[in-house]
Amino acid sequence: MALVGRLEVKLAFFLGLVLLSGRAQGNHHGNAPTVFDVTEYGAKADGQTECAQAFTQAWNAACKSNGPSSVVIPSGTYLSGEVFFHGPCTHSKPITVEVHGTVLAQSCISEFANGHWISVEDVDGLVLKGPGTLNGQGEESWQYDTCGGKSTCDFPLPPSIVFNQVNNSIIQGFNMVNSKGFHIKIGDSHNFTIQGLNINAPETSPSTDGIHISESDLVTISNCTIATGGQKCISQDEGATNIITSAINCIAPRP
Ligand SMILES: *[C@@H]1O[C@H](CO)[C@@H](O)[C@H](O)[C@H]1NC(C)=O
Ligand SMILES: *[C@@H]1O[C@H](CO)[C@@H](O)[C@H](O)[C@H]1NC(C)=O
Ligand SMILES: *[C@@H]1O[C@H](CO)[C@@H](O)[C@H](O)[C@H]1NC(C)=O
Repeated sequence: MALVGRLEVKLAFFLGLVLLSGRAQGNHHGNAPTVFDVTEYGAKADGQTECAQAFTQAWNAACKSNGPSSVVIPSGTYLSGEVFFHGPCTHSKPITVEVHGTVLAQSCISEFANGHWISVEDVDGLVLKGPGTLNGQGEESWQYDTCGGKSTCDFPLPPSIVFNQVNNSIIQGFNMVNSKGFHIKIGDSHNFTIQGLNINAPETSPSTDGIHISESDLVTISNCTIATGGQKCISQDEGATNIITSAINCIAPRP
């Protein structure tokens, strides 16, 4: 009995080594990134289950993994409150977030105590890509806007994505609709590329500006369609340097 037990332990140990070395080798060759599928962390594509925690947990696992990693939101409709994609990460670059489905923000602004929907912070080498959609579901909150038309505002409605200290990163090829506040805010970031975004909110929505940049250097924005009710498609604040834009289709209201 004891002998069999020991053999089993040895066999398990040996198998463990084989598995571990296989994994390490996969990472070593730097081929496919390790995938972190949000549905494996509890996200449900039913449009009703709150998924923010699952998204954040999948990100944290990817962020702390070895080698390139990819957080995947598969096709389907997801509902979420505040999401935190924060570093610092230990992965080797890039860390990719692929949005295939549609993500709906909770419509009630009281769900956004930190003043944003998706917060991306302290990350180097992010790739955020589509082809999916981030829907801010701002319709119910626009009536509470106190910022429309003002250049500074104390209580802005939550932006859909806030990037803070995000370097050497690319966001591309997805759709953003009906943000509560600004669609994208970029601050304190370096070398940021935005390509092929389609940003849309009704002309009557207040303060739903497209992309706002401050305290950032080398932000390249190209091939985007931006049609909102905000003041500006792309706006620059203090400390925005080397902002390069091309092929921006700014439909509404004003360039
Ligand atoms: C981003 O770049 C700035 C300026 O070079 C640096 O201070 C900061 O630590 C960098 N952040 C990350 C997450 O790499
Ligand atoms: C900007 O970031 C991209 C993507 O990580 C990288 O390929 C490129 O070399 C960076 N450019 C500069 C000037 O740092
Ligand atoms: C522009 O962006 C759209 C997605 O909005 C994409 O389908 C198209 O290939 C892009 N064009 C170029 C020239 O990059």
